Amino acid sequence: MTFAHIKGTGSALPQRILDNAGLERIVDTTDEWITRRTGIKERRIAMMDNNESTTELGSLAARRALEMADIAPEEIDTIITATVSADRIFPSAACMIQRELGAENAAAYDVSAGCSGFVYALEMANNSIKAGVAKTVLVVGAERLSSLVNWQDRGTCVLLGDGAGAVVIRADETEGGILSTHIKSDGRLWDLLYSESGNQPPPESLKGLATTPFHLRMEGNRLFKQAVPSMANIAELALQKNGMTRDDIHLVIPHQANIRILQAVAEKLKISMEKFFTNLDRYGNTSSASIPIAMDEAFRIGRMKAGDHVLLVSFGAGLTWGATLLRWSIPPS
Ligand code: UT7
Repeated sequence: MTFAHIKGTGSALPQRILDNAGLERIVDTTDEWITRRTGIKERRIAMMDNNESTTELGSLAARRALEMADIAPEEIDTIITATVSADRIFPSAACMIQRELGAENAAAYDVSAGCSGFVYALEMANNSIKAGVAKTVLVVGAERLSSLVNWQDRGTCVLLGDGAGAVVIRADETEGGILSTHIKSDGRLWDLLYSESGNQPPPESLKGLATTPFHLRMEGNRLFKQAVPSMANIAELALQKNGMTRDDIHLVIPHQANIRILQAVAEKLKISMEKFFTNLDRYGNTSSASIPIAMDEAFRIGRMKAGDHVLLVSFGAGLTWGATLLRWSIPPS
């Protein structure tokens, strides 16, 4: 049997921090409202001058993951990038990242599944490794949501941030790694969260952000009500499929949309919030990038060790949701 093991993780965040006080100067909002309703204190905003396009952030995260895995770019068979904010409508962000890395032997493509993109991409990576199609797969979640947000809409602009995370996955006969993946969609509700049009180049300043014509639209309250049961049910499904209970889970790494969503999911699953890794106070919602960024941080600060069971759970536009159950493979360095 072949198993797909994560061998390296990496992340890359833009330098510019936009805190809640900064947002108070842009829209009619308060630090108190944002903190109480979402748990977010600050987010990162990508800037052209800092070489922080989706491609550049994704490539930097990927280089860090490759370095941890001690794998050369030429060894990569497949690059899958989860994103809704590629620098161009085409070619794919994955092909642009391939060029940056010099991963000349890879096939590269993008996955669009909203904030669930990374979990969807992990499913594809796992399937292609198990089928013997690929041995080494790079999965990147990279987003520059600041280019899609309406900076006059306080209901959405306070929530989102930019960033990238990546993992390198390798085929291995050792039992473990990705134990199961589960993905679901409901296209009937696509209009709860969508972009009105395509993408545009990174803005050069916050003033430039306000003029972006491609506006993200969201019905936050209805989404919230969909997110909680969807995430809890698919997490339960992952546990059931693996014959595990909540006590077997060492750490939950969820998509970072809203602290209240995570508290409600934790309550439904009867898993303590202490087992939920969160960093949304610092980065907000980075869509497809949120789980790989959180995974990289959690590992680097010692929140999981080889052999630990880790549950990833996501929810996003589409609607899409998903879960992955892992037995962590990387020993501490
Ligand atoms: O990433 C995956 C998909 N995304 C999600 O799953 C997001 C899910 N939704 C949420 O996280 C929450 O619904 C939000 C954080 C977006 C909103 O929180 P809420 O508790 O559902 O608030 P609401 O939309 O019901 O708005 C409550 C009030 C409204 O005022 P009125 O009508 O009660 O007078 C809003 O106009 O809060 C107002 N409001 C704000 N006030 C200050 C909305 N945004 C803001 C703001 N600052 N930024």
